[in-house]
Amino acid sequence: MDGNGEKRADWRPLVDELEARRALSVPDYGRLVSCPDPALDEELARRAREARAAVYGDAVFARGLVEFTNVCRNDCLYCGLRRSNAACHRYRLSADEILACADEGHVLGFRTFVLQGGEDPFWDDARLCELVRALKAAHPDCAVTLSVGERSVESYRALREAGADRYLLRHETATPAHYAKLHPPALSWENRMRCLRDLRALGYQVGCGFMVGSPFQTAADLARDLKFVEEFKPEMCGIGPFVPHRETPFAHEPAGSAALTCRLLSIIRLIHPPVLLPATTALGTVDPRGREKGLLAGANVVMPNLSPVAVRKDYDLYDNKICTGEESAQCRGCLARRVESVGLRLVVDRGDFKH
Ligand code: SAM
Ligand code: SF4
Ligand code: FES
Repeated sequence: MDGNGEKRADWRPLVDELEARRALSVPDYGRLVSCPDPALDEELARRAREARAAVYGDAVFARGLVEFTNVCRNDCLYCGLRRSNAACHRYRLSADEILACADEGHVLGFRTFVLQGGEDPFWDDARLCELVRALKAAHPDCAVTLSVGERSVESYRALREAGADRYLLRHETATPAHYAKLHPPALSWENRMRCLRDLRALGYQVGCGFMVGSPFQTAADLARDLKFVEEFKPEMCGIGPFVPHRETPFAHEPAGSAALTCRLLSIIRLIHPPVLLPATTALGTVDPRGREKGLLAGANVVMPNLSPVAVRKDYDLYDNKICTGEESAQCRGCLARRVESVGLRLVVDRGDFKH
């Protein structure tokens, strides 16, 4: 048997088992993650596209992202918004500015708004609940997704009662020792997991996720991330490459790879076919065709930026972030064309998880 044949013989039974059982052992996930054969990527992507089409057809869902504050009390080592970054120019949009972004987004065809920000103490429960209520009153046909980090169960309950439908909280890594290398001691893996459990119990559609190629990450860590996704079965899963930021302790670490990110997107689609899976801005940052490649690997969500252009450069999570100069309508049009270029369709729809 030639070398290629041997490689093929290695991975094919694993891919068959993954598709049949929607599960693998942690060591077998590790084998898929570290296999050097690019033919594996093509096969995983082909099967992931089939799995996606069986649930969602050719529809891709748009989420209008409003980056409403870059003030953060936390100090995650990888993030440009960390509180130790004194060079970050801080801003906070007013409720009226946020509602104006949503109004513009609604005209552009968005039916989900994602409010994302740092852990900003100004946005306490009273203020954030009032904002969610105002948003739902203005656009009752839309879903509201929050992505504002770790809060108490009482806070998550109040926000849910105010009308929030979904919550994005990446688990960041399923390996506690790895979590401790990415975060200061004040942040714990246990509390992150507690938050995800609380959100699920409160009836949110929940998104977990992780960075690909974050510092200290091993194939075994990624294998545990895949096992976590298999067991937690999130409604959404946000994965994108790590990208360094010049003002963080990880400034000189290499960025994560677009190819490995795409391979993981395909595996996650095969683990959990109905999952809503974004082709992220970070993927578009490390590769100019990253989001198209993500869609071809099984992603079915895009998240164009709806934030006012005046603040976009300040939501500076990592270096060279794309879409910081474009108007909302430009991003929407640009992404619609990119989606069409890979044979899919950007739809006007809330894009709820299909059971
Ligand atoms: N503060 C909230 C939180 O941490 O959950 C929401 C906003 S936070 C900026 C959203 C996500 O950005 C994080 O979960 C993290 O995975 C990602 N992120 C932060 N820094 C990054 C970097 N340097 N490269 C890629 N992704 C990054
Ligand atoms: Fe703050 Fe989120 Fe950045 Fe951590 S990842 S520093 S919580 S904005
Ligand atoms: Fe923003 Fe292309 S998506 S300019």
